[in-house]
Amino acid sequence: MKLNIACISGDGIGPEIVAEAKKVLNATCEKYGHEIEYTDVLMGGCSIDAYGVPLTDETIDICKKSDAVLMGSIGGDTTTSPWYKLEPSLRPEAGLLKIRKALNLFANLRPAFLYSELKEACPLKSETAEKGFDMLIMRELTGGLYFGDRSTKEIDGELVAKDSLEYKESEIRRIAIKAFEVARQRNKKVISVDKANVLDSSRLWRKVTEEVAVAYPDVTLEHMLVDNCAMQIVKNPSQFDVVLTENMFGDILSDEASMVTGSIGMLPSASLNETSFGLYEPSHGSAPDIAGKDIANPIATILSAAMMLKYTFKLDKEAKAIEDAVQKTLQEGYRTSDLLGCGDVSEDKKCGCKRMGDLIAERII
Ligand code: IPM
Ligand code: MN
Repeated sequence: MKLNIACISGDGIGPEIVAEAKKVLNATCEKYGHEIEYTDVLMGGCSIDAYGVPLTDETIDICKKSDAVLMGSIGGDTTTSPWYKLEPSLRPEAGLLKIRKALNLFANLRPAFLYSELKEACPLKSETAEKGFDMLIMRELTGGLYFGDRSTKEIDGELVAKDSLEYKESEIRRIAIKAFEVARQRNKKVISVDKANVLDSSRLWRKVTEEVAVAYPDVTLEHMLVDNCAMQIVKNPSQFDVVLTENMFGDILSDEASMVTGSIGMLPSASLNETSFGLYEPSHGSAPDIAGKDIANPIATILSAAMMLKYTFKLDKEAKAIEDAVQKTLQEGYRTSDLLGCGDVSEDKKCGCKRMGDLIAERII
């Protein structure tokens, strides 16, 4: 198979982690006889520096013509970087939001899985960590507060800022269908998270998810309020299978879920539209404080590449080969610095970003 991939390395640790994901993808394609071609494009701060805008039409065009997009991370230090002196629509994050919308990537899948090797890095009580957990957050990605009308106006002598949270039935329905479809391939349980005790948008969310559930009698649907969900993720994460939620709640809950896996450096993501096209990126940010030091954990990006093989190219065996290689490397005790919290790690097992990429690539079978 020929794989045409647009590559957005981005800012901060982005170029380092994408280089390792490419290394692992190349090793996999070589082993399994696929041809792979990357087209590098700019987005985020590096695009601002080159073109004055965080995302050009040319980048969007190249992404649209590719089968999938592999992304690192974008953005810089919000207090010191000159990018954050620009108006909001010209800052790095605006590029990410624009590309999500331009490619209609409404479904964001963020799996949070506790590797048995990392149980000691899990900040939860040991009896909770011992049970393990394997959840998938299905975050709506092109609606809600992120894309509603916003304004800051002076009214009666003071500034008033407003953001609006709006969802159409059709937007809720299509993400709910994805959640039920994915749940069918997993443990057949959807927990839909909302704030239906306060918000109209959540009451509509509940109504539409219940309508969708009728077509999936083999999948159970439960509703959970978002504040309770935040609590349950740290209290009893093994109760979750698929967590279906709107954009902002999903942003927050996925960071929380990633932290209980031991490190935010482990969490991949896939952003999908109605076709097999997808954008694949780690759930973490650009970590400008550690950029260029070869200490970032590339695993979230490597696992995002595995998700790309699975969801865009339907290459399940190859995706599994990457996941197994990651697990094997962890089993053998290798750790990047974000994973050092757990147990004793001897000097020879401590890795930088490049070495971790090499070790995983070598273990592709
Ligand atoms: C994420 C990030 C983005 C988001 C930011 C960078 C705009 O936090 O992908 O979770 O809020 O969606
Ligand atoms: Mn986020």
